[in-house]
Amino acid sequence: MKVIAIDGPAGSGKSTVARRLAARLGLEYLDTGAMYRAITFAALRRGIDPADLEPVEHLARTVDLEVSTTQVRVDGVDATIEIRGPEVSRAVSLVAANPGVRTEMVRRQREWATERGGGVLEGRDIGSVVFPDAALKVYLTARPEVRAERRAAEVSDLDYETVAADMARRDALDQGRDTAPLRLADGAFELDTSDMSVDEIVADLARRIDDV
Ligand code: DC
Repeated sequence: MKVIAIDGPAGSGKSTVARRLAARLGLEYLDTGAMYRAITFAALRRGIDPADLEPVEHLARTVDLEVSTTQVRVDGVDATIEIRGPEVSRAVSLVAANPGVRTEMVRRQREWATERGGGVLEGRDIGSVVFPDAALKVYLTARPEVRAERRAAEVSDLDYETVAADMARRDALDQGRDTAPLRLADGAFELDTSDMSVDEIVADLARRIDDV
């Protein structure tokens, strides 16, 4: 099974790079952040407090989740747009800090890769928890102002200051939580993408995969 693990903070270039790398290698791609966002969306929609551990864990175990490259469906409802919205973005760190939710997401992610004989998975804990034995483990970073600029360019309705503040808050929560905090995994190599184009990053990673 060939698994490529790509982790890093928001705006480090993970999604674009993982998508492009998967296409180049003929592998499928999984955005695991979209899974945590989808659970958050489902909780808000059902009026469940995202901070309420047990009900959110139960939701994570029972919800019908379909995450593909083009669409995210939650219990059959298209949530592709809503999962990127401000309400979900604000609450998702609470859901991602829920240990029961994480156990279930990790189980689903391993199942996804096993069914496909591998794939490119992108998130925060892929190399540290989900697939510590991945063929290649990458930790992408970029300077905070570069990451905020990239995010601000994606979300047209929010200004740079708001995006930067929101991102700094989420980084702190993701790095500071008790269960599977964002960190550089053992055996992962760190790549600062601040001054690199997407083509350069993908080419760099593809070269490393040829070497393994
Ligand atoms: O990559 P993103 O911004 O869509 O991630 C959404 C949230 O989910 C973010 O706060 C970090 C969290 N996350 C996580 O804890 N573990 C993952 N494997 C992926 C995302």
